[in-house]
Amino acid sequence: MKNFYEWQYGLRDKINEVNFRLLESIKTDQSYLFDMAKYTIDAGGKRFRPLLTILSYEISCNESYKKILDLAAGYELIHTASLIHDDIIDKSKYRRGRETLSSRDGIDNAIVVGDYLFAKAYELGSRYGKEVSKVMADGSSHLAEGQIIESLNIGNLSLDIETYNNIIKNKTAYFFSACAEGATIAAMASPDVRKKLSAFAYNMGMAFQITDDILDIVGNEKEMGKPTMVDLNHDVITLPIIHALTNASEGNKKILITILTGKYKEDDYKSKFRHILFKTGSLEYAFKVAKDYILKSVDNLNGIGRSDDLGLLMDLALIVVDRINESGVI
Ligand code: IPE
Ligand code: IPE
Ligand code: MG
Ligand code: MG
Repeated sequence: MKNFYEWQYGLRDKINEVNFRLLESIKTDQSYLFDMAKYTIDAGGKRFRPLLTILSYEISCNESYKKILDLAAGYELIHTASLIHDDIIDKSKYRRGRETLSSRDGIDNAIVVGDYLFAKAYELGSRYGKEVSKVMADGSSHLAEGQIIESLNIGNLSLDIETYNNIIKNKTAYFFSACAEGATIAAMASPDVRKKLSAFAYNMGMAFQITDDILDIVGNEKEMGKPTMVDLNHDVITLPIIHALTNASEGNKKILITILTGKYKEDDYKSKFRHILFKTGSLEYAFKVAKDYILKSVDNLNGIGRSDDLGLLMDLALIVVDRINESGVI
């Protein structure tokens, strides 16, 4: 099976065009503003959301993907803006393999760049009419809602799975779904195709965030281009932690709580934390939940017909969770 980078390589022409659109869309007379926006965009990233938008469009009509590039770029701008703001919230210094914008240019400037990218994104979305604009704006509102529910539950050791699901569906899954839905509306797809591709993307988004939460604990910083253990350091409780808090042995539960409440004073707190989660089967459990979302996700591709793009979407869904297998830790 291909890894993500091999998969992406097959789509390099499309990615290059998205990148070109992104840079076009952020042009301004204020050269410092342009420079900061370009700094973050040039860092790359997986371009998951624009590719999802393009493939959903191509599956839904016979038009050239070039017609959907502005929308694809718009979604990537919102995503990038949300990461700039997220790094301020998380006090993160490293993203997409380089220093975060807030670390390089200061928090005040980074807030403004995020706002600027949101504004440019909505302008791009508006080129596709009212209905697409609404789907894009709703996706973005959900993102904010998810971040706030997360922030209200910082350090909440009794966080339940239902609330966790509510966080990740808002901050990640709805936005994935909006990428597919916006594209299908622009393509004037049938209600059935619209519903199926949106559900495909939603479930893939759930799996994507759970995978990201697992990789935050056991991933490789160099490969991901961002730091690990950010969730632990900021008391963000994720699915593997919820599982461990309920299922660990009494002794390990105590140690876990000591670590999560910042009272564990030894230097080995990260490896201890990882070890307990591993031993309790919590990483494996979360991985299984992510894989189940992928099964649900690809189920929605049935009955849409057959095309190379559909195969690419299917591969993408499998690659989302395969990042865990690649990390070789579970
Ligand atoms: C990071 O998204 C935020 C999450 C929803 C987990 P990505 O992992 O897609 O980030 P980039 O775009 O590749 O940097
Ligand atoms: C995703 O959550 C943030 C957004 C959807 C903006 P994370 O906080 O887990 O993302 P990373 O891990 O910093 O990329
Ligand atoms: Mg973060
Ligand atoms: Mg994360």
